[in-house]
Formats: sequence, C-alpha cells, structure tokens
Amino acid sequence: MAVHIAPSILSADFSRLADEIAAVADADLIHVDVMDNHFVPNLTLGLPVVEALLKTTTLPVDCHLMIEDPDRWAPGYAEAGAASVTIHVEAASAPIRTLREIRSAGARAGLALNPGTAVEPYAGLLSEIDMLLVMTVEPGFGGQRFLDVVLPKIRRARELIRGRDLDVWLQVDGGVNAETIERCAEAGANVFVAGSAVYSADDPGAAVRALRERAESRYTA
Ligand code: DX5
Ligand code: ZN
Repeated sequence: MAVHIAPSILSADFSRLADEIAAVADADLIHVDVMDNHFVPNLTLGLPVVEALLKTTTLPVDCHLMIEDPDRWAPGYAEAGAASVTIHVEAASAPIRTLREIRSAGARAGLALNPGTAVEPYAGLLSEIDMLLVMTVEPGFGGQRFLDVVLPKIRRARELIRGRDLDVWLQVDGGVNAETIERCAEAGANVFVAGSAVYSADDPGAAVRALRERAESRYTA
C-alpha cells in the first residue's frame, strides 16, 4: 500500500483555490474539508465549490464531510466526480447504505472516526470501505496540535485491516507535519492529510515532497 500525501486546502488562500491546488501538483490527493457549522463549529464550502474545483485539477479530490446528515449529501459528491468521499460515523444514521451509495457512484468510500470514537465497534464495516480516517485532532479547524493519544488507535486500526486482509487505506488528519508524520507512518497510516504544514510553507510543493520522504522512511506496507 503506497504512501499518499493529501494537502488540505482549508489552509490555502480561498480567493485563489485553483492556483493553490496547482502549487501542489506533486500531491497524491487534494483534501477538501466540507463543514456545515452543525457537526463542527465552522463553515467552509459545499458541493458547488467542489464541482468548480473538479474542473480545475486532474488530481483526485478527497472530500471529508464534517456535516450532519451525510446520508443525504454524500452521494452527490461522489456523483460529481470526487475520487473519495468520507463520512463521519458519529453523524451517519445509515452508514452502510451511504457507503454503498458512494461506491456505486464510482468513488472510494471513507469512514471517519473522531479522536474519542473507538475503532473496534466498526471493525465489521471495514469490508464496506476503501479508507478509514482516524482524526488526530478534534475536527473543525486547521492548525491544531496533533493528539498523540490517538496513536494506539491508528495501530489498532491497521491491525484490524491486516487481520482481515483488506486493501483499506488508513488516513490521518490533523496536526500532521514534519515532526509528527513519522509516528503516524510507524503506527500504520498510509494517507496523510496536511493543511498548515503544506500551505504555511514557503514552497508548498517542496513541503509535500519532504512529508512524503519522511512517511516513506517509516511506513512498512
Ligand atoms: C480539520 C480538518 C483538516 C485540517 C487539517 O478538521 O479535517 O483536514 O485542514 O489541518 P492541519 O493539517 O493544519 O492540522
Ligand atoms: Zn479533513
């Protein structure tokens, strides 16, 4: 399973999103944080902006839905052409149905767990997903400190995936930077979201390459 670096445009300049995405052409995915001011106390963007971004880039677009009622909204992002659509288990009423709808619309299906949500109760859903997102901050804002306390859950999640012999990517999001990425990779993560670590760098493209090098030095497939 390869290492993937996913810059989060939450920390980019929202008045120049197409240019900010072009600045990270070496990235593997573009991570887009959709927030509704209900599931999280912040408001960002929705489907019309995602549709516009999809026209400006050939990179796969990874939509992280931090919204209430993802059952209602998630399939639309997949139908629009997002490469992956991730819903929060804390917000979904019918996660299996919604994950199946995402997949049948042609996108990879992702399931996200907040820092306080255990992974074990969802082990049975691993066969329904292509990516498990283990949040390493409380969702809602960029630039927060990485929560070390989540590392054992990343390890446990990787064990559960390996134990079932599934090809499920394990994503981490929040506080991932040059200092924390190696610990995440060692614990078994292979998809790394980084917002401030990429977009506050003088050269976002170089930051992506440096993060990938660090992750690859520690990740054992
Ligand atoms: C936070 C978002 C993240 C955010 C990460 O709720 O899901 O994707 O952009 O930002 P950093 O990398 O700055 O912690
Ligand atoms: Zn995110």
